[in-house]
Amino acid sequence: MQFDRFASDYEQVLDRTVAASGEDSAYFAAYKARYLKKVLPASFSGKALDFGCGVGLLSRFLKAYLPAIRLDGFDVSRDSIGKVDDDLRSQGHFTSSAEDLDHDYELIVVANVMHHILPCQREGVVQDLTGRLAPRGILAFFEHNPANPITRCVVERCPFDADAILLSPAEMAGYLGRAKLRLMRRDYIVFMPRFLASLRPLEPWLAWLPMGAQYAVLAEKHARQ
Ligand SMILES: C[S@@+](CC[C@H](N)C(=O)[O-])C[C@H]1O[C@@H](n2cnc3c(N)ncnc32)[C@H](O)[C@@H]1O
Repeated sequence: MQFDRFASDYEQVLDRTVAASGEDSAYFAAYKARYLKKVLPASFSGKALDFGCGVGLLSRFLKAYLPAIRLDGFDVSRDSIGKVDDDLRSQGHFTSSAEDLDHDYELIVVANVMHHILPCQREGVVQDLTGRLAPRGILAFFEHNPANPITRCVVERCPFDADAILLSPAEMAGYLGRAKLRLMRRDYIVFMPRFLASLRPLEPWLAWLPMGAQYAVLAEKHARQ
């Protein structure tokens, strides 16, 4: 609920926090949506959930890059949900009530949310989200990479990351394995600041290198789970 305090200026606060990269908050949101478009099947459609959607920054890009999905959003911060665009609301539910959510999502995206959840509660959240996936549905996490010193520095300076406890891909993989999800891929992402933008086409070849600012982990629910 601490994000209620940032609902009115979430994007501006984030813009300032990431300014050293030469990019803004929209760049990082678009990056994640573009990544998903690239790794998901070209025909991907169906119901999707942006879990921890905040004010809907990433949701806007998810809908733009994956136009065939119907996108719902959930966040514990009611004030943030109150800021979500009318366009997004007209095509899906954006809510702070877990009861409004479905149990047959083809895709659930959880971007930079887990580090705000206490470690002792994370496994329960992953189990709950697994229960909200359709058979063969995909859970996609994006997280800050704790192995990257610049990322740790940015998190320390970010006003809304005061409660953040970063988690490694290995910790994430443990939750997914215990939820009986099939690990599909783990990629490190976001390597080049703007002044090295000409090298960004190389980033997909660096996905194995644990120095990306963030990482993505995708896992699939079994057909009969
Ligand atoms: C850093 S913001 C990320 C927002 C959005 N996912 C994005 O990438 O722009 C983290 C969000 O997670 C939400 N959050 C924290 N704990 C949560 C929980 N247990 N369930 C759902 N949302 C949560 C916060 O309210 C906040 O809006």
